[in-house]
Amino acid sequence: MKHAFFHNVTIMTGASSGIGRELAIQLSRQHAFLSLVARREAQLNEVAEECERAGGECLVIPLDITSQDNCQEIISRTVRRFGKIDTLINNAGISMHSKVEDVQNLEIYRSIMQVNFFGGLWCTYFSLPYLKETQGRIVAISSYAGLFPSPFASGYSASKHAMVGFLNSLRVELDGTGVSVTIVHPGWVKSGISSRSFDARGNSLNHTLDHEKNAMSLDECAARIIDAAEKRKRQEVFGSIGKLGLWLRTLAPKLVDEESMRELK
Ligand SMILES: NC(=O)c1ccc[n+]([C@@H]2O[C@H](COP(=O)([O-])OP(=O)(O)OC[C@H]3O[C@@H](n4cnc5c(N)ncnc54)[C@H](OP(=O)(O)O)[C@@H]3O)[C@@H](O)[C@H]2O)c1
Repeated sequence: MKHAFFHNVTIMTGASSGIGRELAIQLSRQHAFLSLVARREAQLNEVAEECERAGGECLVIPLDITSQDNCQEIISRTVRRFGKIDTLINNAGISMHSKVEDVQNLEIYRSIMQVNFFGGLWCTYFSLPYLKETQGRIVAISSYAGLFPSPFASGYSASKHAMVGFLNSLRVELDGTGVSVTIVHPGWVKSGISSRSFDARGNSLNHTLDHEKNAMSLDECAARIIDAAEKRKRQEVFGSIGKLGLWLRTLAPKLVDEESMRELK
């Protein structure tokens, strides 16, 4: 299928950097109409300029998705501006890097759940009536952490598993409506997310973890997400290690545990 996003109205959470920014630019080449959502307004304005140069049309919505009211406002502002919603991309996310027993500020668990799980849930809930009108798409950026153990990222992994459980259930409820739910599970992607992760005290980690340095490029990651969304795939697991892991977690779970630990050494 070519140009599924031509003049498609897409809400992109987490559009101010990384994967969300790159997705927005690539979708703009298909002349998409985009609501760009994140907290940092200056960065969103820069992304909007780039998108418009690439052929897109943008509405910048500088709101924090940890507020339910904000999520409702994101949906209503999008409909007021563009008249409909074709696609919601739940991309905004934050992470952590600490062993459970070393965590000194338990609020990091709540913060991660509020962005990665509740923010996505609320945006999904409020956009549902509009997505049913257009037989639209819900796309969520999960992670290997949404499928496998993630040592040093227990809260992140919990939030991604929660999102996956919610969206897999919703997919069944939406059967017959024409709305598709696509969950994407990338491995490491070179976005700088690790340096923005919470450390044990709840501060920003402020350095890039080694395994992010050799990770997939943003360009390739975004292209693969768009392809999966265009084809309305149920789920897309990136890389042969991820695909193999799906089998191994049933057949040899200890091996998956060991591999997840080795990843971080
Ligand atoms: N990079 C990886 O290795 C990797 C691998 C697998 C999955 N992922 C997932 O991919 C998604 C994008 O991550 P990324 O790697 O592109 O990281 P990133 O560059 O740090 O992007 C995260 C985005 O989320 C936004 N965000 C964070 N908190 C928010 C809030 N409360 N309200 C609204 N927006 C918020 C950030 O914008 P503001 O700070 O401006 O609000 C930013 O635009 C995440 O869900 C992540 O879990 C990443």
